[in-house]
Amino acid sequence: MTAIPQPAPVSGDMDWFVRDRFGMFIHWGTYALAARHEWVKNIEEIPDEVYDKYFRYFDPDRFDPKLWARKAREAGMKYFVITTKHHEGFCLFDSQFTDYKATNTPCGRDLIREVVEAFRAEGLKVGFYYSIIDWHHPDFTIDGMHPLRNHPDALKMNEGRDMARYREYLHNQVRELLTHYGKIDIMWFDFSYPNHEYRGMPGKGREDWGSEALLKMVRELQPGIIVDNRLDLPAEQADIHTPEQFQPREWVRVDGKPVYWETCQTFSGSWGYHRDEATWKSPEQLIQMLINSVSMGGNLLMNVGPTARGTLDRRALDALDVYARWMDDHDRAIYGATQSEHEAPNGCRYTQKGERLYVHFFAWPFIHAHLPGLAGKVAYAQLLNDASEIRFHDTDGDLTLELPVKKPDVVVPVVELFLK
Ligand code: GLC
Repeated sequence: MTAIPQPAPVSGDMDWFVRDRFGMFIHWGTYALAARHEWVKNIEEIPDEVYDKYFRYFDPDRFDPKLWARKAREAGMKYFVITTKHHEGFCLFDSQFTDYKATNTPCGRDLIREVVEAFRAEGLKVGFYYSIIDWHHPDFTIDGMHPLRNHPDALKMNEGRDMARYREYLHNQVRELLTHYGKIDIMWFDFSYPNHEYRGMPGKGREDWGSEALLKMVRELQPGIIVDNRLDLPAEQADIHTPEQFQPREWVRVDGKPVYWETCQTFSGSWGYHRDEATWKSPEQLIQMLINSVSMGGNLLMNVGPTARGTLDRRALDALDVYARWMDDHDRAIYGATQSEHEAPNGCRYTQKGERLYVHFFAWPFIHAHLPGLAGKVAYAQLLNDASEIRFHDTDGDLTLELPVKKPDVVVPVVELFLK
């Protein structure tokens, strides 16, 4: 038996967060038209004049936020986080501080407002992703992350740029987001790179964003809001830590101390819609990612990148359906569950909620599963998907489950143990 890690208290309201466990990330912007990664402007070093075509032709005629929200709810997701502005600087919301926004494209709508309303109506909590990086704003200085970083005159071009003005813009926009859309549950800032010096151009960190004041304002405007860890502030000021595109192997620790955490993942490598990306994850990987996170006390924020027509493409819908089907049968092994004090055998993961211990089988054994140290501790056992009894006996301190020969027809079978 091992003690379950206990993160130190934070400012954000973590009760719902650790109960709900599973959210939807949405990356949407003008990069959906290019359809080759949300960093396309940066990767291909595209100047504003050229990138502007994606703004002029942004016309998501099939945008249906009610459908997105329903799909998220059916997949078992309890909250969502949407890009209100990504690094390209394009705002999906109707900000009074810029013209570079959805209302000025052929689409002509405040997309954030419609998404928030639709997801709230399905009972999901609301999170805003906001990129503190901005590759469009004329005051944002060119640095090693900027699309113009290799421009021969990059340093000279910085002369008229003023980060103080950009900082004010950033704070003004965050204030808009946190005052115009009702209760916001998560503020997800992205990201800092203070040590990224390039060709004499420094990286950006807390001074550039005015992080201290920004965080203070966020917490004042929305008491209880959960804020992530990418403002380049001391770790203990963040409510959640956000490992990205990799699977932690144990409860996430920062400076040796366990923290509240959420891993964000993609269906296929890119966050924004990527037509030709081929690395779509299998159903097993998708479900295992969710179980892995919860089995180590974390959350999963799974991303969709809607197309430029405003649709979720067939591959994304199929992936969401994988979650919907599995969660239908197994959600009580996820919601409100966390790491177990017991150690799972090879090929299994445990999640635990009070006196119920869930055994998730990543590999289906032949008839017998041996659970170390659980002899004498279990009162009853059943398969979770159909509540069919699983008989068991004790063997030398282990609990031996007597499983059907054939793997039940679910992506990851779960046995629910009622502890004594
Ligand atoms: C990154 C990327 C980005 C994505 C984010 C999600 O740091 O810059 O495109 O939005 O991670 O975690």
